[in-house]
Amino acid sequence: MIDKRHVNNRGGTQAWLTGSRSWIVLFALGCLLKYAIGIAGAATVASAPNPNQPAAALQVVHWWTSAGERKAVDVLASKLAEENIQWRDAAIPGGAGLGASKVLKSMVLAGKAPEATQLNGIVFGEWADLGLLLELDDVATPGGWQKLLFPTVWSLVHNRGHVVAAPLGIHRINNLFYNKKIFDRLGLTAPKTWAEFERVAEKLKHAGVTPLAQSSEAWQVATLFETLVLAESGPAYYRSLFVDLNPGAFGDTRMTHALQRLRTLKAWMAQPVRERPWPEMTRQLADGDAAMFVMGDWAKGELLAWGLTTDQEFSCVAVPGTADYHLYSVDTLAMFAGDYSHQTAQEKLAQLIMSQPVQSAYNQAKGAISVWRSPALSKMDSCARSSWSAFSKGSAFQAPSLVHRMAADETAKDAIVAEVHRYFVDDKMSESDIQRRLVSIARSLSKTGKQE
Ligand code: BGC
Repeated sequence: MIDKRHVNNRGGTQAWLTGSRSWIVLFALGCLLKYAIGIAGAATVASAPNPNQPAAALQVVHWWTSAGERKAVDVLASKLAEENIQWRDAAIPGGAGLGASKVLKSMVLAGKAPEATQLNGIVFGEWADLGLLLELDDVATPGGWQKLLFPTVWSLVHNRGHVVAAPLGIHRINNLFYNKKIFDRLGLTAPKTWAEFERVAEKLKHAGVTPLAQSSEAWQVATLFETLVLAESGPAYYRSLFVDLNPGAFGDTRMTHALQRLRTLKAWMAQPVRERPWPEMTRQLADGDAAMFVMGDWAKGELLAWGLTTDQEFSCVAVPGTADYHLYSVDTLAMFAGDYSHQTAQEKLAQLIMSQPVQSAYNQAKGAISVWRSPALSKMDSCARSSWSAFSKGSAFQAPSLVHRMAADETAKDAIVAEVHRYFVDDKMSESDIQRRLVSIARSLSKTGKQE
């Protein structure tokens, strides 16, 4: 095994010069000293792995706290235990990781970085550039990750020629889950177009069932909204908005239509729309308090954990207008390099994560699909197979989730999510008002400056 202490700070200087957020600079200042001390101290300690060493333990920060998420974590923890490595759980509640990402930053700033963390999205690059992340090439290269992974996933976990995270699974976000018992009882079929959706919603309302489950929590509203943007105009326009932050795209009529669709859908939700965690909304669907629910397929993991079966009590179709597309969020675990004393155990975890049995068991529990381009299709239910087919079509059909950190950095995401939420809760706010605000956010944050 190569001791990487001296090789994994590539690009650190560049991030110092170009990094946009002050916490990174603060962190770098504070921790340079700590690492200098750590490295000097470690130099006197033998770093070769001792085969007789007592069981190692890895602290893992993540936000998987619901029933389905816990089942998926248990797959990882028990596989790790078979290797005599303890999974020390540091679960921070909060859908979409809002709490976890704050806690993680504080831990790192305090010099208490965990050994592993759920670190989704493009933020890898920043952390890796600071030399914080353990490079996993010694696992990825012999394991043939590049060949095994979907190209999109490979490029996500890859930073400046090095693998810096182990990918767990791919979530699809543009799902319309529906309560199959209610649909069967009322003789309804899952809507494939918005016109059909309106007809189905009308019938559900008439039968006394809330057509659409929805929380007013900001990230959940924005998750629905990004799906509507994709439905309105496909991945190319979606990317010009949320990846390129093109100000002109935010002023476009396609954006107006997606916003109007959000208002139309609001009328089909239970009023007032309350702020509730996503598992509660999933529960409403399971109990038949609402008949449809647009959510990432982690909701399917939840339904399965409660003992429900796909295509019996519930089923799923793509949100109208998005059948060909895949709005994705990829879950990944990154490892902090620290003083390298956990490197052997960390590499073992990375290796396990990418193994076929873990990919299969973890993703069945999580509701996601494997990051392998050729997974065991026979073990997938209809929702997973449809997710896999859409993702397999390639990047022209894929859209990286803004809300789940795949498209833009935290600053841009938070600013856009806040505006969309404001528009959702304030019925008096016009589309042109919010579009003006989004255009000016894009102008100030866009990488290309003034592109229109
Ligand atoms: C993550 C999922 C998680 C979901 C709900 C998403 O951002 O990718 O793993 O289940 O948030 O918290």
